[in-house]
Parts: sequence; structure tokens; C-alpha cells
Amino acid sequence: MTPIELLTQRRTVPAAYLGPPGPTAKQLATLLAAAVRVPDHGKLGPWRFIVFEGEARLEASRKLAELHLRKQPELPAEEQAKDDVRLALAPTVIAVVSRAAPHVKIPEWEQLLSAGAVAMNLLNAATAIGLAAQWLTGWPAYDADARALLGLEPFERIAAFVHVGTPTMPPLERWRPDPAALVTRWAAPPGD
Ligand SMILES: Cc1cc2nc3c(=O)[nH]c(=O)nc-3n(C[C@H](O)[C@H](O)[C@H](O)COP(=O)(O)O)c2cc1C
Repeated sequence: MTPIELLTQRRTVPAAYLGPPGPTAKQLATLLAAAVRVPDHGKLGPWRFIVFEGEARLEASRKLAELHLRKQPELPAEEQAKDDVRLALAPTVIAVVSRAAPHVKIPEWEQLLSAGAVAMNLLNAATAIGLAAQWLTGWPAYDADARALLGLEPFERIAAFVHVGTPTMPPLERWRPDPAALVTRWAAPPGD
């Protein structure tokens, strides 16, 4: 697959269809090297990673599940079942943590965009080395207690839980927008 084929044909494989093997230690280092090679105005490096592998995936899922149930004792059984394996579906989950914060020169918005680019590079890099990935968030990304449980500081946010593994089914194609329909060409208003 050429680089441009990768970029124009990459598709997500849902986390439930990402099996072993996950990335080796060397492949994980490659994925992270690609992840940090993103535009980053001001060279702030306003992101970091938390890797979930092996038993730790189940332990983190269990702790999140307990928290969810404490907060919502009436949580439906199917939601509880999702929580039990939330971070354990794929062999490896890489949380992309945004550390965007007020700065004298660089708007927080730009720091957040850089975290999105990090997550996107992870998806492309995983595909490039023959694995597949899915970008998920879910309730723990939007719950301050869940973020603290995962070791985030109060100002840090989850940009993505990137699930990585070997596809157990071919990626599904989905509807894509027609790029041409999204484009206008700017022209000065008549009379300007
Ligand atoms: C910021 C962000 C968060 C997402 N969170 C979820 C999620 O929690 N659950 C989900 O099913 N898909 C989520 N998605 C969508 C999937 O990652 C993915 O876009 C979709 O499965 C189609 O993927 P593809 O366009 O890469 O093929 C999220 C996407 C983004 C950009």
C-alpha cells in the first residue's frame, strides 16, 4: 500500500474485532514515534500517552465499572457489561491525553487540535504496520472522576482511547462525504 493509498483507503476496524497479536514493544515505539510527529504550534508537546496492556486493561476496566455503578446504581446491565471490558477489547489501548492549557501565545484550541493529530497519526501508523485501530472516547473521557482514576491531572483531557490490534474481520466501509461537495472557492464579493 502506497502512502497515499493508506491515507485515502484507511478504515477503522471496531475494537471488538481487534484481536491478538497487538503491537510488539518495538511496534509500539514506532507507533508513538509517528504519534509525536505532528504539528505543534510553539513546540509545547501538549499531550502524553497512557498505555493499557495485558492484565492492566482488565483492571482499569473493572475500576471504571465500579466507579460507574457507584455513580449510577441503576445502570442497565448491558452498560455494565460494556464497562467490564471497556479497555480490554483490543490487545493494546493508547490513551491520548491532551495537556492543553492557557498559554501566553498559543491558543488552547490549537493545542487541542494537535492532540487530534496525534490520535490520527496513531490510526494511520497502526494501519501502516499491518495492524488496525479504532478511536474511541466513551463516558470515562467526559467524567472527571474517571479521568482521575486513570491518573489524569484535573486540567488534562482524554482526546482518544486508540484501540490497536490485529483485525479479525476486514474493515467495514462506511459512507464518506464527497469532498467536492464540501469545497467552495473564495472570491472577493463583486464591487470590492
Ligand atoms: C473524537 C472521536 C471520538 C470517537 N468516539 C467514539 C466512541 O466513543 N464510540 C464509537 O463507536 N465511535 C467513536 N468514534 C468514531 C470511530 O472512531 C470511527 O470514526 C468510526 O468507527 C469510523 O471510522 P473510520 O472513518 O476511521 O473508518 C469517535 C471518533 C472521534 C473522532
